Amino acid sequence: MKTIIKRLSICLTAVLTFGAAFLLLVQPSVGQVEEEFTNLQFFPVDIDRDRLIDIMRNWEAELGVDCGHCHVAYGRDDPRNDFASDDKQPKLVARLMLDNLIAFNRTLTTEALAKPVDEIERVQCSTCHQGNAIPPVYEIPEE
Ligand code: HEC
Ligand code: HEC
Repeated sequence: MKTIIKRLSICLTAVLTFGAAFLLLVQPSVGQVEEEFTNLQFFPVDIDRDRLIDIMRNWEAELGVDCGHCHVAYGRDDPRNDFASDDKQPKLVARLMLDNLIAFNRTLTTEALAKPVDEIERVQCSTCHQGNAIPPVYEIPEE
């Protein structure tokens, strides 16, 4: 039974991965995004372009915002777009969040949690944000 579930989940992962790849193929690429990145302080400068844009699109969904929330971006192909600029505060906040998240996830070790690496649930932006720019406060239900 366990192996069936494992096979099924591998299958599902494959379908999801393929689906995502397909979506990326049919989706028009983001307009006016520089071919070379000039202001990456967290990600490696030679990060694959599609990989970076993938991460950015995820953030949009995880925080329920558009590129323009964090970037000087006015829409597709607008000549005023400047993704390298650090003028918008949320971009700086996003970097801070990223630093904290990576540091926190590093503490979620096999030793600390007493479980194998592949079973460890790591913190993601959506863990807190749940599709909101400012994470919702959990209201403890009244008895
Ligand atoms: C939650 C905030 C946030 C959102 C939303 C977001 N970005 Fe970013 N983006 C960042 C941060 C932070 C960096 C810098 C990462 C670093 O320093 O390594 C960045 C870097 C970039 C860069 C590299 C710029 C350079 O030359 O250094 C590009 C291009 C980019 N983003 C495009 C996009 C696009 C396109 C979208 C929308 C699909 C988007 N971003 C959405 C926060 C965001
Ligand atoms: C541990 C919970 C937590 C995690 C994980 C987290 N955030 Fe946040 N984030 C917050 C809280 C709380 C705030 C609100 C702070 C405030 O009062 O402005 C916030 C605010 C932000 C803001 C400012 C939003 C605005 O409009 O002012 C951005 C941008 C942001 N987070 C991006 C990210 C990104 C990107 C990630 C993942 C790399 C992330 N966060 C992960 C808790 C979290």
